[in-house]
Amino acid sequence: MLLYCLFHTMFLIAYLLASFVLSVSATPYLAPRAADPSVQLQNGEDASSQNSQFRTLGVNSSCTSGQVACIEGSFALCAALPLTNGPGTTVTCTTQDDLDARMKAAGVNIAAGDNSTSVDSQTSLKLDPRVICTNFENDGQNETEPGQTPSSTSSNNFINYCLTVDKPLTNGQQLTNGSCNPTPMGVLPAITHMPSSKFQFPLNQAELPAKTAFTAVLAVAHLETGFFTNATANFLAAPQQVGTRGDIRGHSHVVIEKLESMTQTVPTNPREFVYFKGLNAAGSILIAEVTGGLEEGTYRMASITTAANHQPVNVPIAQHGSLNDVIYKSNNDNLNHLVLGVDCADVL
Ligand SMILES: *[C@@H]1O[C@H](CO)[C@@H](O)[C@H](O)[C@H]1NC(C)=O
Ligand SMILES: *[C@@H]1O[C@H](CO)[C@@H](O)[C@H](O)[C@H]1NC(C)=O
Ligand SMILES: *[C@@H]1O[C@H](CO)[C@@H](O)[C@H](O)[C@H]1NC(C)=O
Ligand SMILES: *[C@@H]1O[C@H](CO)[C@@H](O)[C@H](O)[C@H]1NC(C)=O
Ligand SMILES: *[C@@H]1O[C@H](CO)[C@@H](O)[C@H](O)[C@H]1NC(C)=O
Repeated sequence: MLLYCLFHTMFLIAYLLASFVLSVSATPYLAPRAADPSVQLQNGEDASSQNSQFRTLGVNSSCTSGQVACIEGSFALCAALPLTNGPGTTVTCTTQDDLDARMKAAGVNIAAGDNSTSVDSQTSLKLDPRVICTNFENDGQNETEPGQTPSSTSSNNFINYCLTVDKPLTNGQQLTNGSCNPTPMGVLPAITHMPSSKFQFPLNQAELPAKTAFTAVLAVAHLETGFFTNATANFLAAPQQVGTRGDIRGHSHVVIEKLESMTQTVPTNPREFVYFKGLNAAGSILIAEVTGGLEEGTYRMASITTAANHQPVNVPIAQHGSLNDVIYKSNNDNLNHLVLGVDCADVL
């Protein structure tokens, strides 16, 4: 069996351990005529499965004895080819066209322009040059603006950024001591599709009876609701996505925090809230039952709009109205008892 490299070897690194062949079960030159079509199809399918294995290999990948792997394969492929004259496959450096032609000849269905037999960009451990943002190399300081922070820069999309900080990888978990998350931000909607929300109940400045159940009603616009991943396994673990209507796919939440008073000026503690509920249903009107109601007091009630993997929604421009709604309200044990300062019912 021969290892043909049809392109210049500078583009290849071959790992050759013990043999030229990966699981070859064949004796190629014994049969003078073409093998049975079902044998050829089986060969093609075996070759496809071996090519999937190759996609996981990179520089310094460990190899097992008997395995041949070609990497840096953008100009030459290391591919398992189906044998034509008997059962088995052979591992060869070849071109995409040659591979496609041989697969087709074996009866494996390959659509025109289908790159499925080459490197799969969604499993490859190499950054595809087509997604490199070259502006990331610019720290933004070519004109001096006092106080402006130079951006961190990268020529590889920050793919290995988390190696620069002493933090565990987020890895889909809510790590309370902090972590580093390598997930890309993903798809941003058009400016005409930025999400927005407004509470329909309670209304701004509402006063509700204390300790009495109520139903919070949130109207949302430009959010394709009903998308929520497992918050324990998939927290911040996939990029933001936009549906066919152009809206971010995600869900919302209601959070209620107790204030000292309507005139509180001290920042709140995000770890302290009296009510929190994910609004996971699909629809433009989302509801949350606040069973038992709230103790007497003054509260801030806010929506939290997120993409499917619980990340805050990202929109395409920096200056925009609030994507969430905030209302301030009072709960009293007596409906006729008005609190002072009801005009402080800010809507942020
Ligand atoms: C591969 O290993 C060699 C020797 O340890 C090292 O010099 C090289 O940087 C490694 N390459 C990559 C891409 O990890
Ligand atoms: C297959 O890869 C070639 C070269 O990278 C690219 O031009 C073409 O658009 C790809 N085809 C598909 C269907 O992705
Ligand atoms: C600063 O960089 C931007 C973006 O590359 C460019 O358009 C602009 O001309 C640069 N300004 C100066 C003073 O170099
Ligand atoms: C969080 O960090 C503190 C302080 O470094 C440490 O004592 C604690 O064990 C850490 N907890 C977890 C869950 O890692
Ligand atoms: C969510 O993921 C966790 C952790 O993997 C798992 O224990 C739990 O069963 C999952 N929940 C659902 C509803 O799938």
